[in-house]
Amino acid sequence: MEPDIITANTKELSEDEKDKLQEQNKRMVSEFKAKQLEIDAQRHWDLFYKRNETRFFKDRHWTTREFQELLGTAQGEKRSLLEVGCGVGNLVYPLLEEQLKEERQEGFYFYACDFSPRAVEFVRANELYDTKHITAFQCDITTQQVHEHIAENSLDVCTMIFVLSAIHPDKFSQVLQNLWKLLKPGGIVLFRDYGLYDMAQLRFKPGHKIAENLYMRQDGTRSYYFEQEQLAQLFSSQGFQVLNNNYVHRRTLNLKEGIDVPRIFLQGKFSKPLDES
Ligand SMILES: C[S@@+](CC[C@H](N)C(=O)[O-])C[C@H]1O[C@@H](n2cnc3c(N)ncnc32)[C@H](O)[C@@H]1O
Repeated sequence: MEPDIITANTKELSEDEKDKLQEQNKRMVSEFKAKQLEIDAQRHWDLFYKRNETRFFKDRHWTTREFQELLGTAQGEKRSLLEVGCGVGNLVYPLLEEQLKEERQEGFYFYACDFSPRAVEFVRANELYDTKHITAFQCDITTQQVHEHIAENSLDVCTMIFVLSAIHPDKFSQVLQNLWKLLKPGGIVLFRDYGLYDMAQLRFKPGHKIAENLYMRQDGTRSYYFEQEQLAQLFSSQGFQVLNNNYVHRRTLNLKEGIDVPRIFLQGKFSKPLDES
């Protein structure tokens, strides 16, 4: 695998790619259908987990490499982490497993939440599930529900891995306000999601585009493709400090199909400043 390229620059499109994006505008998702997708968002994700169970997403073993904050600390203090849109637990379980193996007293207390009740059931069915270390609960992070489960100013870390892209852009600010409330001063958000002009965005055919950079997949779930500046502004407008915010260009070889798949992600770290003044 080639090393990732980390850059603040948006991918330059070829003429062919520009044509493909133009083509998508020929048939947009109707307003009626777009509203229906928003109403049915939870159902579509729940059906996704009914179909795929725990098979779809791979364990996220790269997280400690990309985000040093997820490694154990030397100070021996217990920290708390919320994984938003945890799916079946592909991020939290590798971290918890490592923590238990090393018999570390410090490390994280994990909270994991997802929109889909089925996904949460899978998290709870994991053999490592034990409320001594982890609590999983169902919630829609665009509402106030999360505050019924976690105290304000109590979290050290919040992770959002391919989650905000599943939420309508009109609700992004509300999500960030919720995270802001939950984080301690000095707490951070770790973010990774689809970057603008990722190959999956270019591949959408007419009939899938809902709005600028927002698309509907075949199964009714949605995905948004983030532009670097826009994400920085989104976090800044809610009071966060941008510590890091870059595109990650990654080439992965799909051995089975013998094709090279270039992906673009946007990865960032944002903090709630210690001093709010
Ligand atoms: C692409 S999946 C990513 C899952 C997981 N983070 C991972 O990387 O394997 C998006 C997840 O976000 C969840 N989700 C979508 N909208 C949500 C919302 N409003 N509140 C909480 N979770 C949501 C979905 O149920 C789904 O599990």
